[in-house]
Amino acid sequence: MPERFASIGVVGSANADVIVHCHTLPRPGETILGGELLLVPGGKGANQACAAAALGGSVEFIGAVGNDGNGQLLRDSFAKHEVGTSYLHLSSQPTGTALIAVEDSGENLIVVAPGANNDVSLDGINWNKFDVVIAQMEIKPEVVLAAAQSAKKFILNAAPISDVSDDLLRECDVLIVNETEAQSINLNRVPYSVVTYGKNGAACFEYGTEIVRAAAPRVEAIDTVGAGDTFVAAFAVRFALGESPADCLHYAVVAGALATLNPGAQGAPPNHEEVRQWLQPA
Ligand code: RIB
Repeated sequence: MPERFASIGVVGSANADVIVHCHTLPRPGETILGGELLLVPGGKGANQACAAAALGGSVEFIGAVGNDGNGQLLRDSFAKHEVGTSYLHLSSQPTGTALIAVEDSGENLIVVAPGANNDVSLDGINWNKFDVVIAQMEIKPEVVLAAAQSAKKFILNAAPISDVSDDLLRECDVLIVNETEAQSINLNRVPYSVVTYGKNGAACFEYGTEIVRAAAPRVEAIDTVGAGDTFVAAFAVRFALGESPADCLHYAVVAGALATLNPGAQGAPPNHEEVRQWLQPA
């Protein structure tokens, strides 16, 4: 029997990523020389939408881009990954831009100019069509809260970390954060929270109590930008299909690790078959 589709709505940011690789990230006040400049589609929301589609989800992106070349870069990526854009708003502001430096170890630094991401609108959305809605914190918090209140099931990726209100936490079915972000959020308030530890895998908590931990497969990472977004997308797709948090977690750590094997946040997210092969016992 063919696997049923997970219908996912992603409410979030779409950025043009301006990336330069360097040996070591600069310290405050330092100027350094880096390598070649890359301009690629990114943004936590757009990355998660493309990754969820690559993993077999039926995905709509709810966001905004400007009427400019970078907006077209994002539209081309959505088309390539077969992400629906019926709710993609055209803003009078420039497309969001992320300035990214990546050092040889894979560690990165990101500063985002939100631009059009401040214009995301939820007008006219048919929330019933989504099994799960995902959002992150690169758009206005009031828009994230309204999406959370409208969704049947809501997953919040609280990145970048900012004040996550009690009202918003109350709406979360799943909260996904990295270990730094986890320090400033009370995980006890959410049914399921997931904390990611980079190459050391991830753990899932039920109302603050750890219920399962998953190790990440060892891979030769070449670019970690967007790996966390693939993790979120993978967890969401399996959660939308009704899998247990433990199964979602094991699937997501593999997908996140495989995402580091290709350059660019939306370059070549892993597909379901690739993740499944890694999950098979040897
Ligand atoms: O998570 C990686 C993303 O963060 C980048 O694509 C960048 O645009 C920022 O949103």
